[in-house]
Amino acid sequence: MDRLQRKPIIVANWKMHKSIASSIEFVHALAPKITVPSTQVFIAPSFTALHAVAAAAKPYPAITVGAQNMYAAAEGAYTGEVSGIQLVDAGAQFVILGHSERRKLCKETDQFINEKVKIALLSKLIPILCVGESFDERKAGKSEEVVGEQLKKCLNDITSVQGRGTIIAYEPVWAIGTNCAATPPMVQEMHQFCRDWLIRHWGDEAANKVHLIYGGSVKPDNALSLMQQKDVDGLLVGGASLAVESFSEIVNFDLGET
Ligand code: PGA
Repeated sequence: MDRLQRKPIIVANWKMHKSIASSIEFVHALAPKITVPSTQVFIAPSFTALHAVAAAAKPYPAITVGAQNMYAAAEGAYTGEVSGIQLVDAGAQFVILGHSERRKLCKETDQFINEKVKIALLSKLIPILCVGESFDERKAGKSEEVVGEQLKKCLNDITSVQGRGTIIAYEPVWAIGTNCAATPPMVQEMHQFCRDWLIRHWGDEAANKVHLIYGGSVKPDNALSLMQQKDVDGLLVGGASLAVESFSEIVNFDLGET
C-alpha cells in the first residue's frame, strides 16, 4: 500500500484549552471550510467538551472526535481517571496516548502507555501513540535508538492484527510548542525509520496500514512541505489548531501534482 491509499489525517490537539461553547462553535465554523475531500480531521477537545463536540460533529463526516488521554484500566477505583469505555460512550473514536507532556508532567512510562494502548484497542478506540526524542538525545545522535525503544515498549505484545489501525505520531519533544519544527527531511528520515521498524515487527501489510503523523510546531506555512514527504500521512497540531483560520489552512494543504 502506498501513501495515496492512506488518507491524510490532521489532528487538532486542543490540550487544556476552550470552553464547551467555544469548542462547539469551532466545529461548526471549521466544517464548511474543509475543502479537501480526502482528508480526515480529528479533533481532541478536553474531556469536559468531548460529548458535546462529538454531537456537534455528527453531521460532518470529515470530522472525527476523540480524547487526549485515558486510563490503563477498563473500570475501577481510579479517582479522577477516565476509561476507554467511557470515552466511547461520550462519542470518542480515537485517543492520544503517551504525549510528551504526559510523559513529562505525569511521569508516564512506556510500560504504562503500553497498557493504555492495549485497553484502547480493546475499547475499539484508535490509539494515536506519541513517540519522540528530546533535544539532548537528538544532539547525541540517539533519535532512532530512543524512538525504536519507545515503539518496542509501547507496542509490546500487540500483534499485527491488533495494531494495524494504530496511528503513530512522531513528535520530537524539542519541536513541541517551540515554533521550531523539525525540517521535512528530518521528519521523513524518522518516519521511514518507524515504517521500517513496523515492517520488521508486523510485516508489510499491517505496517503499511499504519498512519505515521508528525507533530511539533506545525503551522500553515510548513504543513505542505511536511505533507510532501513520502512517509508523512498526517499532522498533529497543537497551538495552530486553536484558531479556525490557521487550522483550516493546515487542513486544506494541497499536494497538487507533487
Ligand atoms: P504544537 O503542539 O503544535 O503546539 O507544537 C503539538 C503537540 O503537542 O501535539
